[in-house]
Amino acid sequence: MSILERGPGTPVTIGGVRGGPQTPTSRRDLWWVQPVVVVLGLTAFVADGLWAALRQPANYYANPLLSPYYSPCIVSNCKYVYGPIIPSWWTYPALAVLIFPLTFRLTCYYYRKSYYRAFWWAPPACAVADARPKYTGESRFPLIFQNIHRYAWYFALIFAVILSWDAITAFRFPHGVGMSIGSLILLANAVFIWLYTISCHSCRHLCGGNLNVFSKAPVRRWLWKRISPLNEHHMLFAWMSLVWIAWTDFYIWLVAAGFIPDVHLLGAH
Ligand code: FES
Repeated sequence: MSILERGPGTPVTIGGVRGGPQTPTSRRDLWWVQPVVVVLGLTAFVADGLWAALRQPANYYANPLLSPYYSPCIVSNCKYVYGPIIPSWWTYPALAVLIFPLTFRLTCYYYRKSYYRAFWWAPPACAVADARPKYTGESRFPLIFQNIHRYAWYFALIFAVILSWDAITAFRFPHGVGMSIGSLILLANAVFIWLYTISCHSCRHLCGGNLNVFSKAPVRRWLWKRISPLNEHHMLFAWMSLVWIAWTDFYIWLVAAGFIPDVHLLGAH
């Protein structure tokens, strides 16, 4: 019987050691820590995202800082450079744009692995039995939709460009070019988003996949060789960009709501 066909609590033989009936694994290390951390991290991010998208007043803009959750701002009463595409009666501008980056994150190969393990225990860790008796894979509804990841990547690329533009304009104050803490936070946000986007497995495949002879595609080989080392750290970039985007929105909310000033460091205000 394969490990995937076993139910929870079924004895498992790993490395010649047989687990007891209550033990889905013979592992004696703290294998459950990682799934627990992932559950806490992703739950906190979802809660923060909901709060950011639904809060009223939204407080998403503190000239020249725009929250990444609200970018591109395409609502007609947006105080920023984008829009108007959506009428001003639409109370939740973030909900109009978040669907694209969310689709990209939800279908990311790394996040899939993480939430399959952490939330569904399918399986929770290497050499730990699956919590479900059957494994249905991603070849049928609804998980077959995970395959849209490669297409979601193109939208993510557009968002990386938009967030880079937001980072540049964060240095453009009403009286000229300057720099504040907020400018640097938005700059770091754009860098982390780029690292996450170009280290994507789909991006790496786009550069070096479906090729039999690298010498016939030198540009793609060049790209593949540079993206591969980044791809090794995709998990790190996934978490860095996730935490930082939440922090960026929170900082701009604090400034826009008047709780703290955006401390100016250099140049015009
Ligand atoms: S695999 Fe994670 S973003 Fe593509």
